[in-house]
Amino acid sequence: MSYFEINGGRKLKGEITVKGAKNAALKAVAAAVLSSDPWTITNFPFIEDTKRILEMIEDLGATVKRGKESVVIDAKNIKTGRMNDDLAKKLRASIILAGPVLARMGEVRMHHPGGCVIGKRPVDMFLEGFQKFGARVKWENSHFKITAKRLKGAKIFFPRITVTGTETMMITAVLAEGETILENAAMEPEIPMLAEFLNRCGAKIEGAGTPTIRIHGVKKIGGGALELIPDRIEAGTFAVLGALAGEKVKIKKCVPSHIRAFLAYLQKAGVKVEEGENEITVWGAKNLKPVNIVTHEYPGFATDLQPPFTLLLTQAKGTSLVHDPIFESRLMFTDALNLMGANIVMNDPHRVTVNGPSKLIGRKIASPDLRAGITLVLAGLIANGKTRIENIYQIDRGYERIEERLKKLGADIKRIM
Ligand code: EPZ
Repeated sequence: MSYFEINGGRKLKGEITVKGAKNAALKAVAAAVLSSDPWTITNFPFIEDTKRILEMIEDLGATVKRGKESVVIDAKNIKTGRMNDDLAKKLRASIILAGPVLARMGEVRMHHPGGCVIGKRPVDMFLEGFQKFGARVKWENSHFKITAKRLKGAKIFFPRITVTGTETMMITAVLAEGETILENAAMEPEIPMLAEFLNRCGAKIEGAGTPTIRIHGVKKIGGGALELIPDRIEAGTFAVLGALAGEKVKIKKCVPSHIRAFLAYLQKAGVKVEEGENEITVWGAKNLKPVNIVTHEYPGFATDLQPPFTLLLTQAKGTSLVHDPIFESRLMFTDALNLMGANIVMNDPHRVTVNGPSKLIGRKIASPDLRAGITLVLAGLIANGKTRIENIYQIDRGYERIEERLKKLGADIKRIM
């Protein structure tokens, strides 16, 4: 199994360019299934998760032309609603595909997408949503079978905010007959991005980016070209890297306003940050201050930026509280940081107390999930000595050629095949 080998302690400087957003790419590929005309998606990140969802739609009969940073998807010849089990189990986000496939084919058969180390990741709100559209949902030996002759517009209230739940119901509603209203919807930037493009293709969506989204169903939608927004989680991750290991790091091709809450807390912690139109410059922090953070749906502090920020707090002078109410096991990775010398106490599955500063020592460690995985890479970059990180498929799920990009900043990191 390949792994990363890191020698810590280097001071990093230079520029790093943010790639297109993983969590925009996955939904754009799923939404492309709605159309029988070609969709061109640019600023496309080729990472494990996006490669898997492209394989899933090819398996259903779509054709995909892969460019350097773009894909052209033609879903005209989608011929089945049976989704590949192995791919569906590998990619939690495969559940998003169920919506557009149901809308196109009238039936879906898929393996439960499964949970992951950050939580059980139930799909109850997806299944209830499909039933509201008039679909029948059957469960047989860990597969869903969802059928619907014709989808009818529905009124869907999400009891708790769900990002992919919002996106999946919005995409499904595009071809449903009549009006659909989504209430208590997520507002992540990837959602208005997708809605604006779907409208350019002929959909009728209002209110994306607010808690209430109205969709008027249409018979069909056409093709077009979509440029993905930059990955706000990459941008925030690299900002923590600059604060921890930088002399000075410039993060290019990002949207500072997409991580407003995170940047506010980075500055509260004493990090010098300079914002440009579509870039952020971060200087290495000398005296980090403890802060208390609570993750929250957008525009709050993104849960995906909690792991790197928790690492930052291990270097602050004092005690911080990190509260992540969104996932029930997303803080488990702090055990790995403690093995490297951090002093983090778990108060309950959603809350840890971080005492700092702690000297981190390099060691052999495995990456639990993609956001914890990249955090362990950052930890290795500031630790004394050598760190070996295994299970790096998890990191490759969300960060394209990450070791090459970090090397350009002066990091001593190698991928050992
Ligand atoms: C999306 O996951 C992102 N993934 C996650 O990023 C991100 O952490 C999360 O939103 C929160 O921002 C993608 O966009 C592909 P949720 P999602 O539904 O939509 C519960 C990453 O690292 N829930 O907003 O799956 C759920 O268990 C990933 O890129 C139900 O109970 O998250 C969680 O506790 C990790 N029933 C809460 O809602 C449901 O039917 C919020 O989850 C659906 C969700």
